[in-house]
Amino acid sequence: MCKACDKKTFYITTPIYYPSGNPHIGHTYTTVACDSIARYKRMQGYDVMFLTGTDEHGQKIEEKAKERGITPKQYVDEIVAVFKKLWEYMNISYDRYIRTTDDYHVESVQKIFKELYDRGYIYKGEYAGKYCTPCESFWTESQLVDGKCPDCGREVIEAKEEAYFFKMTPFAERIEKLLTETDYLRPRTRATELVNNFLQPSVDENGNKTYGLEDLCVSRTSFSWGIPVTFDTKHVVYVWIDALSNYITALGYENGAYDDYKKYWPADVHMVAKDIMRFHAIIWPAMLMALEQPLPQHLAVHGWITFNGQKMSKSLGNVVDPFILGERYGVDAIRYHIMREMALGADSSFSNEIMINRINTDLANGLGNLVSRTVAMIDKYFGGTLPTDREEGDFDADLIATATALKAKVDDHVENTRLNLALEEIFKVISRANKYIDETTPWILGKDESKKARLATVLYNLLDTIRIAATLLSAFMPTTMPKVFEQIGAAEYATYENADKFGVLPLDVTVKRGEAIFPRIDVDKE
Ligand code: MSP
Repeated sequence: MCKACDKKTFYITTPIYYPSGNPHIGHTYTTVACDSIARYKRMQGYDVMFLTGTDEHGQKIEEKAKERGITPKQYVDEIVAVFKKLWEYMNISYDRYIRTTDDYHVESVQKIFKELYDRGYIYKGEYAGKYCTPCESFWTESQLVDGKCPDCGREVIEAKEEAYFFKMTPFAERIEKLLTETDYLRPRTRATELVNNFLQPSVDENGNKTYGLEDLCVSRTSFSWGIPVTFDTKHVVYVWIDALSNYITALGYENGAYDDYKKYWPADVHMVAKDIMRFHAIIWPAMLMALEQPLPQHLAVHGWITFNGQKMSKSLGNVVDPFILGERYGVDAIRYHIMREMALGADSSFSNEIMINRINTDLANGLGNLVSRTVAMIDKYFGGTLPTDREEGDFDADLIATATALKAKVDDHVENTRLNLALEEIFKVISRANKYIDETTPWILGKDESKKARLATVLYNLLDTIRIAATLLSAFMPTTMPKVFEQIGAAEYATYENADKFGVLPLDVTVKRGEAIFPRIDVDKE
């Protein structure tokens, strides 16, 4: 709760992305999904903090910069500019952007590292293991798949170095409970896999529960592009302590740059894809437990956007460029498509054909057509302004009940990060409205002078249903919905508070014909 304004707060984060290459449609998915939730929550009256950013240290970046003959900072600056440009292009309403190279973050991470060391949770040891250079990950023998990196499938090398470690076992039992007995992990079905693969609980001969959870290597000496450990400067803080801390340093934890930690922490939703689930499900809670800080409410884990069955990723080189898609089909159509296709927890395979069909069926034929037909009929039969006489008839009650029940359903799905289902529900109402046109046959009513009041009622019901659907959709498609409001004469009435009420538009509402909101894509031409 914000003390100054009495509003409930809501804190949502994307992962901080590696600026080792340009962003693609996979990064776009997570950011767009968080943006839609942030917008929805703002619409509900929450004081929202939406954080995104970039994770800029590490060996890979150091190497890439070297190849180009520039400094790592110059290298990341260029790519961060592309990330920021993409978020602007995709209409992302983030409140704060953190770069792990920002001074305040560096300062906080150094303090966090020292604090964990002083509390006895970080100790010095030696790391020997299998290392995947492109992924910057050490793996144990048992984690390898056919002797190769379980993340990217490439060769690993034997590596050894002096390093600091973070003790994980003191937190294993609490983490197991967090994953299996609370609503932290979404979907919960992933808990078993995490517990078995990483916590590895077992009962010893004396009946005591033990865990096979390994300590985490948290420093490196083999490269220098990272945050130096203040008390042992040949070490730099290794990726996860640096990266995960961003969620609190961005609010001002252990630094003077911001002062929002008390207000927004703990986070309401961290959204990530499954590749970094274990870090957020196990290491992040352990770090917070060690620092004696409150744990986040929810970790929402989605699957990958795949292409020909493989994860879309920079290192596999099979990426789809969101700028190109946006230019071709429109930013909101892309936002809609990726959110509609991805079910929480499952992968979603990217295909142009599915995307074009989806845009044509739902957006052009479904919503676009509904708006343009309704507005055109009001123009044709009433010169753009409805008369105030009304006559109720068959099918009205069902349409109104369906439309007014929508908000509660969408609320519930957004609350539980099921954005595909939220959109599915909204489009059911749009289909219901299109069916209502077929049922009430306004073109026949229009031929009969004595049916004018009935015709006005039908068209009004359509407008008010569109208002409800478009209001709830405006969090997902923020550029086009204001155009819908404009056309249906709802600009001042399209509020969240009104989204479960019917009869909100004035009886003598005036519409304004405009361009097609979602033009149909010619499949053959494509
Ligand atoms: N820097 C780390 C995250 C640190 S968070 C404290 C990292 N960066 S990343 O650039 O590799 O981004 C990973 C995230 O990007 C995934 O968790 C997901 O949100 C998004 N995606 C990247 N590729 C994706 C797909 N092909 N499909 C869906 N999401 C994808 O990991």
